[in-house]
Amino acid sequence: MQALFRLASIGVTLAFGALAPVAAAELVGHGGAVRSLSASRDGGLLLSGSFDTSLILWRPAEERPLRRLLGHAGAVHAVALAPETQLALSGGEDGLLLAWSVEEGAPRWRAELGAKVLALAIAPEGGSAAVGTADGRVRVFGLADGTVRAETDLGGARPTALLFAEQGTVLWVGTHEGALWAIDPRDGTGSERLPTSGFAVTELLELADGLLVTGGIDGVLRLRHPADLRLLGELPGHEAPITALALHPDGTRLASGDIKGRVIVWSLPERRPERVLEPHRGPVWDLAFTGPPATLWSAGNDSIVRRWREGDPPPRPAESSPASPPAARRSPIAESEDRGERLFRACVACHTVTADGGNRAGPTLFRLFGRPAGAVPGYPYSEALATSGIVWTEETIEKLFALGPETFTPGSKMPLQRLPDARDRAALIDYLKRVTMPAEVERGTGG
Ligand code: HEC
Repeated sequence: MQALFRLASIGVTLAFGALAPVAAAELVGHGGAVRSLSASRDGGLLLSGSFDTSLILWRPAEERPLRRLLGHAGAVHAVALAPETQLALSGGEDGLLLAWSVEEGAPRWRAELGAKVLALAIAPEGGSAAVGTADGRVRVFGLADGTVRAETDLGGARPTALLFAEQGTVLWVGTHEGALWAIDPRDGTGSERLPTSGFAVTELLELADGLLVTGGIDGVLRLRHPADLRLLGELPGHEAPITALALHPDGTRLASGDIKGRVIVWSLPERRPERVLEPHRGPVWDLAFTGPPATLWSAGNDSIVRRWREGDPPPRPAESSPASPPAARRSPIAESEDRGERLFRACVACHTVTADGGNRAGPTLFRLFGRPAGAVPGYPYSEALATSGIVWTEETIEKLFALGPETFTPGSKMPLQRLPDARDRAALIDYLKRVTMPAEVERGTGG
């Protein structure tokens, strides 16, 4: 059984490897991970925002950059193109919200928000925009002049996903703590409608028929009724936190991406995967559709925006989707150890564990225990972590994931969920001890 699965997934890798040249259209221009994408309603423009602090406006049909927008002093976390007006918005690590004239490529107005921007959304009629910041606030701005029209304090919860729904009359907010809020964008009044689950809500989307789709760090897409949020279905297929969601222009398909690099294109009428792509090594940070012809763009750590168009590589039959069999593993390994390994899948996009693994977006965790924070030579740590004085032990790693990096190491560049369950933390630490400490590494994996 396991061999069969293996074979299936190797087949997939090869198939896409071989087909890569066909789907090779790439937008190259950023100098760091691309974190956010937004397409204009007519599909003629694509906007990308990057860790390299810049934005690039692209003409996707011609696969060329139109202009680069410079104005942020830190990574750009979220971008949005207004549907009709010639305006683009960007929010960054630097706590700055910038509204750009697409025509001139210059900021039209700016707002200092005092905390980093986590999420952005523009209302469908294009008159206003919502911004969520790490201090637990959601503000609604007038797009034309940047006046604040409404403000909501989420009482400490962090807004990680925003969505204008029902023709812009409702603003949905998904939080890092796993709650859903409904806010009236006219006055900022609202309340928590779905209580905290512990699984951060990372993505929100409204389908053509009005249903809400949520994506979270538990890797499951959920369909909910907008009136009472009752669960109408789940789309399982990701095995890692969902990091991106985009609706196909014809409304019948949905694309979702995860932190391990899998993109699934779903057929909505049938609620099943239609196509699975692996566009980047590592996380898929965002997805956007342009067209016609309908074209999917993906962004990841490799700083390239890649194109996936219908008729590029032939779709893979959904039946052979590489559902890896977590149950069919070596049985002598204790359940907690298995769990640790599974939990560490949320880390592999950014961390290696071996001496020669090197640094990814995060430093190698080789010989982590007993190591002072910020000690890997040559890795560009944040000032906050480098000067924290923390030494990594079972105890401090436990705290890191009990409280979350943003609380335990404020200012750290590591974006991650908490692990609310103490057993999960113990299992993860157990796994880290086995794989990052030299004696174990030599014995266990042999390189
Ligand atoms: C999206 C990328 C990303 C993911 C996913 C991620 N990390 Fe990190 N991690 C980072 C970055 C970036 C840093 C450096 C932070 C800084 O400089 O402030 C870091 C730092 C760390 C450190 C401190 C290392 C040191 O040398 O001081 C530990 C420990 C750590 N991560 C563990 C984990 C574990 C365990 C997971 C999974 C549960 C994880 N990380 C997931 C990006 C990530």
